[in-house]
Amino acid sequence: MTTAHPLASEWELDPASVYLNHGSFGPSPRSVRQAREAWSRQLELQPMRHFCRELEVELDRASEVVAKLLRTQTDRLVLLDNATFAMNVVAASTPLNPGDEVLLTDHEYGAVRNIWQARCRATGARTAAVTLPFPPDPAAAVAAITAALKPETRLLVVSHVTSATACILPIRDICHAARQKGVPVCVDGPHALAMLDLNLDSLGCDYYCGSGHKWLCGPFGSGFLWVHPRRRDAIQTPIVSWGGSIAGRPASWKDSLQWLGTRDAAPLLALADAVRFFSPDVIAEYRSWSHTLIRAARERLLQIPEVSAFCTPAENDFVSMAAVELPQTAGWKPGYHGHPDSLQIQLRDQHGIEVLTGSWSGRRFLRLSAHLYNTSQQLELCTTAVADILQQERHAAK
Ligand SMILES: Cc1ncc(COP(=O)(O)O)c(C=O)c1O
Repeated sequence: MTTAHPLASEWELDPASVYLNHGSFGPSPRSVRQAREAWSRQLELQPMRHFCRELEVELDRASEVVAKLLRTQTDRLVLLDNATFAMNVVAASTPLNPGDEVLLTDHEYGAVRNIWQARCRATGARTAAVTLPFPPDPAAAVAAITAALKPETRLLVVSHVTSATACILPIRDICHAARQKGVPVCVDGPHALAMLDLNLDSLGCDYYCGSGHKWLCGPFGSGFLWVHPRRRDAIQTPIVSWGGSIAGRPASWKDSLQWLGTRDAAPLLALADAVRFFSPDVIAEYRSWSHTLIRAARERLLQIPEVSAFCTPAENDFVSMAAVELPQTAGWKPGYHGHPDSLQIQLRDQHGIEVLTGSWSGRRFLRLSAHLYNTSQQLELCTTAVADILQQERHAAK
């Protein structure tokens, strides 16, 4: 694996960087970038034709291709810019009153927490966070969530694959437990696409929010919201525009979300090309290549003094992304959005390596991601640099 994967030439990453943060922002292969550019050209060629006659038909076609991958029907799916947008739609569509509660887990993504805190502030409701057992053993995670669901819980918001901690949660069992208590579930799923086999119709959730730019390598600015038919009538848009079909088609629950003012929908249309690129064979290849790289890198990291397994103690607990816990050397300050941990800055500035480090629940972590364009050499560069920097930190702290 020191040699590149045969498909690595599909990506054109800056050779000055070692890119190990696909989990935050995942670049696209050539065919996807070309498709997006072609759709933008098509718009510029004849805007009236594209916006008024072509766009809705093409969005339907693209969402049919995406729906097949997600094992669902296109009338349950609307293509949107990203999971953040989708989550905002769910927030706008969830009626809340003073005294109501929205339950999240302590592993939820910061921006998602912000969305629900803002929605609760505006309605007099409140958010609550259930602490999952650490590391989150599946049965214990389901039990903790079940115990935290109260009569006033109006929605459970839970990640399929968590962000900082990179753990895969037993989402089907969680949905089942919530349904037994009559609580709707919104799954935050950007990392699950391509990383896991999805079958949205059988999950038992009410909403599923996804981003195309992560493991599926879709264009930046592509994502989706999946809505169970029982929730369709309640869907509200957080961005108000015309609210109807621009082509004059019969009304659909998706209308208010598809025309959000004049904008280039090329990333949404080219999301279908990411699905075409990731045939079942290529998905299997991505999973096995990335897992091999991450597994070996994680083992090397775990040999560094005071580095320990985080939320994914066993090799089968992760696919293409894993996090380890780092020592909190004297003088270490927790990083946060826009102000990364000093290790992340040193890796970037001194070694040209991009990874995610940060703090979660008072713990310091490093999260590694790998995709088809990465090599074992790159991961070795990273783990060696991490060992060196942590050793320097230890010396400096003495
Ligand atoms: C678990 C989780 N939810 C939501 C998001 C937001 O995704 P996006 O920025 O594509 O909207 C992320 C992004 O990293 C994430 O990891």
